[in-house]
Amino acid sequence: MLIFTEIKSLQQKIKSLKNGTTIGFVPTMGALHEGHLSLVEKAKKENDIVVVSIFVNPTQFDNADDLINYPKTIEKDLSLLKSFNCDIVFTPTPEEIYADDIQSQSFDFDGLEFQMEGKFRAGHFNGVGTIVERLFEVVKPHKAYFGEKDFQQIQIIRKMVEKRNLPVQIISCPIHREKDGLAMSSRNTRLTTAQRAAAPFIYETLKKAKTLFGTKNASEVIKWVENEFKNHPLFNLEYVEIADEETLLPVETKNPTKKYRAFIAVFAGKVRLIDNISL
Ligand code: PAF
Repeated sequence: MLIFTEIKSLQQKIKSLKNGTTIGFVPTMGALHEGHLSLVEKAKKENDIVVVSIFVNPTQFDNADDLINYPKTIEKDLSLLKSFNCDIVFTPTPEEIYADDIQSQSFDFDGLEFQMEGKFRAGHFNGVGTIVERLFEVVKPHKAYFGEKDFQQIQIIRKMVEKRNLPVQIISCPIHREKDGLAMSSRNTRLTTAQRAAAPFIYETLKKAKTLFGTKNASEVIKWVENEFKNHPLFNLEYVEIADEETLLPVETKNPTKKYRAFIAVFAGKVRLIDNISL
């Protein structure tokens, strides 16, 4: 497994690959868990080589504390990637990526950026768009793999690829869950023992919401979820939304030809968890 910290040397390596070599790319912020590793596995099956980036991208954090406290486990990450036969790891510094101007570009994602996460995390998706486009430019992958826990992020990246005509195929992969149902996330390691023990409540609630959506309308289901969280001693609901998978707009009346998903963001103390379920 080769490890690069500099864009120039990574690009030299990529240029030196035999013509026609397909590159699967898994961008990450490190603190890898089984969810990330399943993306690496899939990328490995579908491409000649796999590149993983590990970069905690400062421009997508709207909260300085969250950036400082984001878990960093680089040695463990590298050994996991090696054991999954990853070919290349790219671990740049912020200066390598942004030079002396650590700022996002401004994107127009046709309104996808104003829904859900976009309402609560100012500038987040401009940061995501900036780093993902930059990484695509450097790595030049044929396929790039993203987990559906960040479903809105996937739709936004697809939109960017479409609008900017980027030559990469976006592959979305199902959410990986712990045995008790909690969606895998690097942030889970920051939960206290009590918060971690209670956290399956989030997915349990989403599953019940899915059942309810069979007979009730979206606003009734949303009210029910809000009520479930109202008096929870450990979790504060930031939002719950039932939205069209394509437009991410809230559902007003159900249309049987459309696909819907319930999305949720919850605070456990200072740790923010998100999850979603296909309805
Ligand atoms: O999903 C993530 O881990 C990040 O948003 C990504 C795609 C690696 C960009 O920093």
